[in-house]
Amino acid sequence: MTTTLTEPAHLAHPDAWGPQFFASGNQRHNSRFTACKQDGAHAMEPSEQGQLESLDQFLNRLDKLHSSPTVALRVMELTRDPEFQMEEVAQCLELDPALSASILRLVNSSYYGLVDDVTNLRHALTYLGRRSLRLSVLSFGLVKTLVSGAPARFHLQYWKRSLTMAAAARECAKLLDDRDVDPDTAFAAGLIADLGMLAMSQLETEAYVEIADEPDHTIDLVQRERELFGFDHVQVSQQLMKRWELPPELVDAVGNHHTYLPVSAPLNHVALVSNLIAEVIWTPVCPYMQPLQQVMYRQLELGIDDLITLVMKTKESIEESSGIFGVQLPGEIDVEEVELLARDLFKKAALDLASDLDCLEAFSTVPLA
Ligand SMILES: [Fe+2]
Repeated sequence: MTTTLTEPAHLAHPDAWGPQFFASGNQRHNSRFTACKQDGAHAMEPSEQGQLESLDQFLNRLDKLHSSPTVALRVMELTRDPEFQMEEVAQCLELDPALSASILRLVNSSYYGLVDDVTNLRHALTYLGRRSLRLSVLSFGLVKTLVSGAPARFHLQYWKRSLTMAAAARECAKLLDDRDVDPDTAFAAGLIADLGMLAMSQLETEAYVEIADEPDHTIDLVQRERELFGFDHVQVSQQLMKRWELPPELVDAVGNHHTYLPVSAPLNHVALVSNLIAEVIWTPVCPYMQPLQQVMYRQLELGIDDLITLVMKTKESIEESSGIFGVQLPGEIDVEEVELLARDLFKKAALDLASDLDCLEAFSTVPLA
């Protein structure tokens, strides 16, 4: 018998992910990585109201500790108008040499493929469209501002995860090709998704640095953050971005980078995929390979070969982004190991499906009494 396998068993049945990955819709606020319906606005419960208030108080403390990223936010304001004045933006950017240098490094990276080096900021700005300019300023300005106040031992850990997410999100958006996800927007979403961790590390340094070593970011870290603060870094990132009046599509993607939503904007799925890639790419033996395959397949119609391509491209992109941000990341990505584990898991799921089909066929040949 020849069987054409179109969808592995574990991908066909989301319940196979197990209870740690799924919960019912009304458990959304208690379980970050959950499948839930987008049921629109809901009445806020007293516990949620209290959580929001303590989150606001937390961010007020952050405001006192840290000046807000003035230049980045001012550029965002200036470029809100599609007919913005480039000279005005250049003058504003010159007030922040680190931000200007990051933009120059970006324009000179292989991503833009320019033959000659660009050393002049005004010249560099002409290569960035309005959208790319806004997103670069947003990413570099916000992350650099918050990183500068975070404890040193936390820096590399943060960059490793954020650059991985940013690279994975951009490469995933490129794989989607004709669908409505802009690769630069996806990159920005990945890069700033965990800003909340930086905020937490600055306000409760000792306690947070201790829990930030938690290798399981998606479930265990979030759990420990809630025990410590009463809320988690995803909520902090989202609230911080709302305060800064960042684009709603970005706020939404960041707010859902741990959440499985069956029906959602493609950018939200891309953000979740980038989070899962960040889990598996540095430590392939972890519980997230299966959810990653499942989200890619079911939500983005990307199969096992796309996953391998995504891992390879992400590795290349991380190397390039590390140069742009001027950080040397520790560790090595073993693409072959990731591929081996991913294909093994896929094969096992396919065999499970074949065996289910054989049972079904045997059952169907039993004569009815
Ligand atoms: Fe996160």
